Amino acid sequence: MHNTVKVTDTVYWLGVNDRRTSFFENMWPLPEGVSYNSYLIVDEKIALVDTIEYGSSDDYLEKIEKIIDGRTIDYLIINHMEPDHSGAIKAIVNKYPDIKLVGNLKTFKIVESYFGYKDNWYQVEDGDVLELGYHKLRFIMTPWVHWPETMMTYDLAEKILFSGDAFGSFGSLDGGIFDDEIKFEEYYENEMRRYYSNIVGKYSNMVQKAFIKLEGIDIKYICSTHGPIWRNDINKVLSLYDKWSKFETESGVVIIYGSMYGNTEKMADAIARRLSESGIKKIRIYDASRTHISYLINEIWRYKGVILGSCAYNSGMLPTMENLTRTLEHIGVKDHLLGLFGSYSWNGGGVKALHKFHETMDWELVSDPVDTKGIPGDDAFERCRILADAMIKKLNA
Ligand code: FEO
Repeated sequence: MHNTVKVTDTVYWLGVNDRRTSFFENMWPLPEGVSYNSYLIVDEKIALVDTIEYGSSDDYLEKIEKIIDGRTIDYLIINHMEPDHSGAIKAIVNKYPDIKLVGNLKTFKIVESYFGYKDNWYQVEDGDVLELGYHKLRFIMTPWVHWPETMMTYDLAEKILFSGDAFGSFGSLDGGIFDDEIKFEEYYENEMRRYYSNIVGKYSNMVQKAFIKLEGIDIKYICSTHGPIWRNDINKVLSLYDKWSKFETESGVVIIYGSMYGNTEKMADAIARRLSESGIKKIRIYDASRTHISYLINEIWRYKGVILGSCAYNSGMLPTMENLTRTLEHIGVKDHLLGLFGSYSWNGGGVKALHKFHETMDWELVSDPVDTKGIPGDDAFERCRILADAMIKKLNA
């Protein structure tokens, strides 16, 4: 049985849930799964908006066929060429050989390098309108959200924004497809932030530029390529994206450490206890060797206070912490309060390396780093207390 889900009378959701893939794009764990959303607009002309990951559905073409009932698809709009959305392009072109591929010049350069297509292009520029009949599609170039070719498609007739990855989320759609059918805060917000921070976050300034382009556009639906469709509380998802792309955070602290023998971990607990005694309730501690980096980045995106600890390993940081700090540099995460701590057994190196990380970021160091030799004693714990107090003072400022 094929269930068809309509966004409006003539716009269909053709999403599929992927609960099998362990790592999205071989990097990010998917404990809650993910959906790949494709959309079909049936009008005098028929347009498909993005496709799905290759192999994620064996009945995608049948679902389309059932809806269009012997007609052909006139346009395939490629808002984003990444393979989780372009995976079915070849199958679509094979089945509908007269289809026009709609995209911008950058899209086509990638299309050509993936599929070799050169003569079935319909090139669009920013602001161009494609008329399907009732539906009129305007193309909005939003480069680098999060690939160079990314664009959005806005239906002037029904005020639908097909946004590509923007406003998307990890998490399969478990029955509920629309924002008013799900418990967003409970099941999706965290995964949406993990998606944003890890995949789109590096391009936050481009997200802000995209917002400028969307200003004044009346949006009734946001149809992203991942996660729920928004039709009830559009402002919620817009304001979350606005907040995250401005690096606005909550007043709380995430402590992340690398510890081989438990000494650095003891310091993490001492710092957290002091934060708690001073009334901070949002405190999270993570062992970087146990928790996947995508969750650590997500928590850093959430909280203003970041306290990083590392034991010394071959005169540097523990590799898991080194990986985290290098990734934070690469993403260019901004606007945090920072504390540093750690222990060592020979000559140190972990905290020194953390301090070098600080010099590459514009985060404010709240106090002197706490570096201690061996098992932390009263003096080390006293310095942890001073660090925690300095963090609280800055957080409350
Ligand atoms: Fe969902 Fe950037 O692909």
